[in-house]
Amino acid sequence: MPIRTPLCGLFGIKYPVLLAPMAGVSGGTLAAAVSRAGGLGLIGGGYGDAEWLTRAFDDAGDARVGVGFITWALARQPRLLDLALDRNPVALMLSFGDFKPFLERIRSAQSKLIVQVQTLDQARAAVDAGVDAIVAQGTEAGGHGGARATLPFVPAVVDIAQGVPIIAAGGIADGRGVTAALALGATGALCGTTFFASDESLASESAKQAALCGSGDHTERSSVFDVARDLDWPSDWNLRTLRNTFTRRWSADMAGLNQNLATERDRFNAAIAAEDTDIAPVIVGEAADLIHARRPAKAILDEMMAQAEDRVRCLGKSVAPIKEE
Ligand SMILES: Cc1cc2nc3c(=O)[nH]c(=O)nc-3n(C[C@H](O)[C@H](O)[C@H](O)COP(=O)(O)O)c2cc1C
Repeated sequence: MPIRTPLCGLFGIKYPVLLAPMAGVSGGTLAAAVSRAGGLGLIGGGYGDAEWLTRAFDDAGDARVGVGFITWALARQPRLLDLALDRNPVALMLSFGDFKPFLERIRSAQSKLIVQVQTLDQARAAVDAGVDAIVAQGTEAGGHGGARATLPFVPAVVDIAQGVPIIAAGGIADGRGVTAALALGATGALCGTTFFASDESLASESAKQAALCGSGDHTERSSVFDVARDLDWPSDWNLRTLRNTFTRRWSADMAGLNQNLATERDRFNAAIAAEDTDIAPVIVGEAADLIHARRPAKAILDEMMAQAEDRVRCLGKSVAPIKEE
């Protein structure tokens, strides 16, 4: 039986699954592929680059897509919001920072506002502001995030949601994860890592290969890459990546990294240019264990939902009420 939740109605989608707006990875082609396959693709507006964003929307063509921004970065160039809203995104997702200054503008454009949160206080603020949906992100997630684990965090957010649809994120990469998200009370899932190595992803070929060979055991959260990239992230969030030579050398010695910044930045930038994943970041989460092959996004989503439907069917049988003796 097809799985339909209120999220499907909210966004006009077949499957309650969203592609995470992964900066530099979720371009228009990937977002469109996920939307055409029945989910909702969110373009990764990231730190904000007008030219990149325009190309991403062009690449998405006539597909119904949304877009996400890193909120503290958007606050530094708010005109990018107009650029995005001019393209009539189905939804606009804001993560990491104060979304309230953008609320009215998004509402008046009749785009749905999704806010991604990592703490209950952030969730309460989003509920009070009346956002359209909240992504409750667990620390298992690839990319920037906080400290709470998906399993207890999602139901805790559901408990305070007052009817706002909650979308689970962090470690959800297949149908088992989608089923678990629904069992926790979420109305769907937002997935990044599982699409990282898809055909349409903009990650480098070497990063895709490293992700496919990687394991959740070998990821960690740190700020080393943000320092190397000269990104002044607020200390509330850090970045989950695969461990590599760069994290092993510096994640326990941030003072040393800062002292050697000039040379380390040169080394880092050269590694980015050469797609050398021993130094450059491979931004995936603990769900790296669950991705095994490079595939089209549609194949990933179709298999995920077929497995979820199967799981729901099996659970329905195995948790049938036990008859009293
Ligand atoms: C490569 C990568 C880049 C990401 N970039 C962003 C971003 O720019 N903005 C954002 O809100 N979230 C970003 N995220 C986090 C996702 O929104 C989402 O929370 C996460 O991917 C969910 O966990 P998962 O990776 O286990 O599926 C990124 C995640 C990854 C893997």
